[in-house]
Amino acid sequence: MGDQALPTMDTPHKQAQDECVIRLDGVHKYYHLGDFQVHALRGITLEVCAGEFVAVMGASGSGKSTLMNIIGCLDKPSRGSYFLDGVDVSQMEKTELARLRNRKLGFVFQQFNLLSRTSALENVELPTIYAGITPQERESRAKAALERVGLAQRAHHYPSQLSGGQQQRVAIARALVNRPAILLADEPTGNLDSRTSVEIMDIFQQLNTEEGLTVVIVTHEHDIAQYAKRALEFRDGKLRRDTVIKDRLFACDVLPTLPTLEDEDADDEMTAPPPEAD
Ligand SMILES: Nc1ncnc2c1ncn2[C@@H]1O[C@H](COP(=O)(O)OP(=O)(O)OP(=O)(O)O)[C@@H](O)[C@H]1O
Ligand SMILES: [Mg+2]
Repeated sequence: MGDQALPTMDTPHKQAQDECVIRLDGVHKYYHLGDFQVHALRGITLEVCAGEFVAVMGASGSGKSTLMNIIGCLDKPSRGSYFLDGVDVSQMEKTELARLRNRKLGFVFQQFNLLSRTSALENVELPTIYAGITPQERESRAKAALERVGLAQRAHHYPSQLSGGQQQRVAIARALVNRPAILLADEPTGNLDSRTSVEIMDIFQQLNTEEGLTVVIVTHEHDIAQYAKRALEFRDGKLRRDTVIKDRLFACDVLPTLPTLEDEDADDEMTAPPPEAD
């Protein structure tokens, strides 16, 4: 699916470029474990504009997921402020925060987090329950989102009947179904092989370029970060480096150079030893 354009969803999330959509001001996060306190974020000040594609990098425990949970309104800063689209969300009540999250943000996780006894279509429909729309509209939006990630043919499959890459695409469709302005993904390719990872980056790049979606991903892999426009490097809860990606990779150029599973099967057959004679 690398070089083929994905169908466009009717997405009203296009925002003026350069408009600041995420702003953190002196954000600290402490976790309390009995008497013990972990200082997971130590004064993060950061701006992300509409249409950016940011890769968050850093060693295990450096605070990447903590940052994503705060950006995604799943958690609040212990100190400092967080403005989402200009609104200070640090002080918001839980229900207000949940509504905002559902409307503005889409999430993708390393483990896909799909409901196993529920079809791909129903998984994608789930976030629309709270969007106050008719069942017909919910289904048509979910179908459009699945089509957007190239999985219209798999709508009635269960997660166990899908490959890891397909499950991640269902999870991306679910993240898109409420037409968010910002897509957040924590290690979205962490459980995928290298070709499938690039296919996922292809979808993210298309959403970013064609629909102006702001994308923030966490990754351990330098070659995956190369698909972003900007890299943030975290160490010990601090933002140590903020750089523009030089020599950015484009998945649509890289995919045709990567072997497909069929190619690898054919190679295995060619190199397999001849069957032993009786
Ligand atoms: N719920 C929690 N309770 C207590 N400590 C936590 C909690 N979540 C994270 N931490 C601690 O906060 C620090 C930052 O954790 P975080 O999960 O943000 O790291 P990370 O960069 O995402 O790591 P990884 O690459 O392993 O996912 C770590 O020291 C971690 O042990
Ligand atoms: Mg993490």
